[in-house]
Formats: sequence, C-alpha cells, structure tokens
Amino acid sequence: MAAAAGATGGDKMRLMPNILVTGTPGTGKSTLAAELVSRLNKASGSAWTHIPVSDLVREKGYHGGRDEAFDTLVLDDDGEDRLLDDLEEQLAPGARVVEFHATELFPERWFDLVLVLRCAETSVLYDRLVRRGYSELKLQENASAEIMGVCADEAKASYEAAAVVELPSVTAADLESNVGRAVAWVAHWRAEHPHGVPVGGAEPAESSSSASAAAPEAAPAASSGSAFAMAAASLTGSPGH
Ligand SMILES: Nc1ncnc2c1ncn2[C@@H]1O[C@H](COP(=O)(O)OP(=O)(O)O)[C@@H](O)[C@H]1O
Ligand SMILES: [Mg+2]
Repeated sequence: MAAAAGATGGDKMRLMPNILVTGTPGTGKSTLAAELVSRLNKASGSAWTHIPVSDLVREKGYHGGRDEAFDTLVLDDDGEDRLLDDLEEQLAPGARVVEFHATELFPERWFDLVLVLRCAETSVLYDRLVRRGYSELKLQENASAEIMGVCADEAKASYEAAAVVELPSVTAADLESNVGRAVAWVAHWRAEHPHGVPVGGAEPAESSSSASAAAPEAAPAASSGSAFAMAAASLTGSPGH
C-alpha cells in the first residue's frame, strides 16, 4: 500500500519516457494522446499506451461518489491512494501517455514531459463542451478555468518549469504540429538517455545537480522543455503557426 508515496523501484531503470497531457476539459487531451500513441507505436514498434485517468477512476471505482451539481466523480483520499498505486505500476516501464485535467497529485518523478493543451479561442472550447452536453454551470466553470489558465498554473507549480510545455490546441493543424513535436521529443529523449532513468526517480548522472549549478548555457540538454523546442526545431525547420 501507499507505494506511490515513496520512491519505489530500487535500481530498476525505465528505458522510455512518460508523458503527462493536461488541460481544461475539451482542450483535446484524449485526441492528442490517442494520436500520439498511435504515431509512436508506428514509428518505433514499441508498446506505447494511452492512460485516460478519468476512465480509470470511473472503471475501477477510485472515487467517493458523484458531485451532482458538476456531474463529475469526486476523487477522495482512499480513491486517490488506490489510483496512485495503480498508476505507479503502470508507469514503471515508461512509454505511457497519461491524460488528466489535474496534475499536482502525481509524483514529479513519474513524468519527463508535461504537455498543457490550451484553447485560447473560448468560443471553440465552449462549442466543444456544448457538443458534449455539459450543463451551463460546467460550461461556465470550464471556460473560465481555461481563460484563467488554471491547469497551466497547476502544472507549472507541480513540475520543473523546463518539463512543462504549453501547446495551442485550437485547430487540426495544431494537433498535427503538437503530435510531430512530441514524437521528435521522444526520439531526442531516447538519444539523451541511452540507459534510461531510474524508476525510483533519482536524476541520471548527465543531468545531476553539478550541472544545474553551472552556467545557463550548460543546462539545455538536461531540460525537457528546451529539448522539446530543440527537437521541434529540427523537425520543422521553420517557426510554427
Ligand atoms: N486540435 C484540435 N482541433 C480541432 N478539434 C479538436 C482538437 N483537439 C480536440 N478537438 C475536438 O475537441 C473535442 C474535445 O476533444 P478531447 O480530446 O475529447 O478533449 P479532452 O480529452 O481534453 O476533454 C473533440 O470533439 C475533438 O475532436
Ligand atoms: Mg479526455
């Protein structure tokens, strides 16, 4: 029990990265995660898996009931413990794309990259949620959460700044660009970590604390965000739009 709370995994190495996709409901997390997993599996033949956390909570009953006003399942303490134990096991091998609107409940060491999807066109987000049949209360709540950047703030407060990347998710072209950038980032991560990273979470030697004390220009190779930008630049060769 409570395996998720400690740094478990001993000396085991994780050879593949894990990616967390977050954002306000309707920003396109499921769409991106599914497309990304499909593309990664085609590209590498490896066993990438999409884990939609809300589905896991519902299917395995990791909740303390339904909030009627918001028509949503409430994650209580016991459910959260069980969810984290389950995820800890699922994430150990790496090659997981986890999707959830909240991020602070997960240990930082689980994820190498946190993608925050943004839909700056509020009317587009609103229409997506109307099509989903959300109540007026839920529409308003989610639209204002997106305007205020609640998910982005939570991700930035919970993970190293360099690991968090905000991506526009308004158009089909955004989706294509985001998937391409993430696929390139994975290739970059694998090249940078030929022996993987410890499942228990300690930093690999090449990005240890001695490097973080060095001059800023020494840092980029060790940071996911910079690596994401570098991988994307090498892929497209031109600024995105
Ligand atoms: N980049 C995008 N461009 C256009 N439509 C999108 C994009 N991403 C998602 N959608 C659409 O928006 C709706 C919500 O997407 P979904 O992936 O279910 O969001 P989330 O998982 O964040 O709630 C779906 O109808 C999906 O087809
Ligand atoms: Mg979803």
